[in-house]
Amino acid sequence: MTQGPRFVLAVDQGTTSTRAIVFTHAGQIHSVAQKEHRQIFPRAGWVEHDTTEILRNTREVIGQALGRGNLTGADLAAVGLTNQRETAVVWDRTTGEPVHHAIVWQDTRTARIVADLGREGGADRFKEVCGLPLATYFSGPKVRWILDHVEGARERAEAGDLIFGTIDTWLLWNLTGGPDGGVHATDVTNASRTMLMDLRTLSWSQDVAAAMAIPLSMLPEIRSSSEVYGTSRKLGVPIAGILGDQHAATFGQACLARGMSKNTYGTGNFMLLSTGTEIVRSDHGLLTTVCFKVGDQDAVYALEGSIAVTGSLVQWLRDNLGLFEESADVERLARQVEDNGGCYIVPAFSGLFAPYWRDDARGVIVGLTRYVDRRHLARAALEATAFQTREVLEAMEADSDVRLSELRVDGGMVANETLMQFQADILGVDVVRPRVVETTALGAAYAAGIAVGFWDGEQDVVGNWEEDRRWTPAMPEEERERLYRAWKKAVTRSFDWVD
Ligand code: G3P
Repeated sequence: MTQGPRFVLAVDQGTTSTRAIVFTHAGQIHSVAQKEHRQIFPRAGWVEHDTTEILRNTREVIGQALGRGNLTGADLAAVGLTNQRETAVVWDRTTGEPVHHAIVWQDTRTARIVADLGREGGADRFKEVCGLPLATYFSGPKVRWILDHVEGARERAEAGDLIFGTIDTWLLWNLTGGPDGGVHATDVTNASRTMLMDLRTLSWSQDVAAAMAIPLSMLPEIRSSSEVYGTSRKLGVPIAGILGDQHAATFGQACLARGMSKNTYGTGNFMLLSTGTEIVRSDHGLLTTVCFKVGDQDAVYALEGSIAVTGSLVQWLRDNLGLFEESADVERLARQVEDNGGCYIVPAFSGLFAPYWRDDARGVIVGLTRYVDRRHLARAALEATAFQTREVLEAMEADSDVRLSELRVDGGMVANETLMQFQADILGVDVVRPRVVETTALGAAYAAGIAVGFWDGEQDVVGNWEEDRRWTPAMPEEERERLYRAWKKAVTRSFDWVD
C-alpha cells in the first residue's frame, strides 16, 4: 500500500467514555481524542446512558482526533466502530429520537423478566441457540423492558416505527444519515450479545424473539465484522469495520488462531479464548460468542469469561468513598502495604457474572478489623480483579483442552504494575502486554482497513503485534493457593442478598 489515504480511524464507544483514534499502516497511534459521558443511576441496580450525549461526543472526538493529527476525511481509508456491548437503544426511525435512555449492560432491572423467561426451561433455556445463560446482562430482556414500560412503545414497535440497536448500530445509523437513509445494521459479534441471534446460522432466532415478545421488524440487519456498511456523511469515508469491544480487542491482540486468548481490563474484565470455527458450549459458566467474521470467510467463535466489575470498583472507591483523587492513586496506596491485611472485596454490584451468574449477589467487604485502612482496601480492590480473572481462566481450562502458557492483556488497568505482578502470581502464568495497548480501537481499525484493502489481511495484524512487557509469577505455590481459598470463601458471602 503506497498510494492513497494513509490512515484508518477507529471510534471506541466504551462504557465510561468515547475515544477516536487514528492509526497508521504500521498499527501505531497517530492521534487520539477522548470524552467521558454521564453515568445515570436512577435507582439501585439501574444504569443508563444518554444516547444523544454519546452521539454528540462521538462526533466531537472524531473532529478532535482529526484536528490533532492535522487530517481531514480525505486522509482516511476507512472508519471502524467498536463499542460497549449489550447496551440497548430503541429509537424512532422517522425522527431519530430515542424513546428511553440506553439501558446499560450493567443494569439489573430485567431480573424479573429474566426469571419469568426461565420458568420454562430454566436459565439455560436459550443456551443451545445463542450460547448464553438467561441473565440481566444481555440486550433482549432490556428491549422487552422498554416495550413493556415506555408508554405506547409496543404499539409503535409493532407498527414498524421503532427500531433497536446496540451502540454500534445507533452510531452507524446516525453517522450514515439517520432518518435520511441511515444504515440499520450490526455485526455478528454485537448480535451475539443480544440473546436474539442463533449462533449456528448467524441470523435472528424467531423463536427467541417471539418468547421475548420483540417484533423482528425492530432488529438490524446482521453483517460480518469487516465489510463496507455505508459511508460517513460528514467525512465521506466508508465505515467498514464493526466489532463489540472485547471481540475487537481479541482481533487487535492478534489472537486469531484457535487456543489464543486475551484479557481486557476495563470497567469490567473480559477474557476471550478463540475456539476457531468450532462452537464450544460451556459447562463452567462461560459464554459462547462469535469472536469475529471477516467478510465472507467463516465465523470464528470464542469462549468468554465476563466479569462485570473490576476497573469500576476503583472508580467506586474514588467517587463513592472518596478514598483517593485519581484512579492511578490506587496503585500508590496499594503499594504502601505488603498484603490486603486480611480484607477481601467482592464487587458484585451487578450480581456476579462468570462463572457464577448470580443476580442475587451483592457486593461485600469481608475480613475487616481495626487494623485495616484505606491502603488495604485499595490493595483488596486490585486483588479482586486478579482473583476474578483466575476464576474465569480456570473455567476456560475446564471447558477446553487448552492450558494457557501466557495471557495477553490490555485495557486501562494494565499500566498498573502492582496489579499485573499480582495477576501473574495468582494465575501462575506469564502476563504479557503488547506495545499498543489500545487494542480495542486497533482491532476495529484493522477490520475496517482489511475490508477496503488498506491492510492485506490477518497476516498484517499478526505482523504488527509486538510484546512490550512481561510479568512472570514469583509467588510460592502455597501462598497463591491460600489467598485464592480465602477469596473463594469471600465470594460465598456475597450470595443471596436479593430475593
Ligand atoms: O460487555 C460489556 C463490555 O463490552 C464493556 O466493555 O470496556 O466498555 O467496560 P468496557
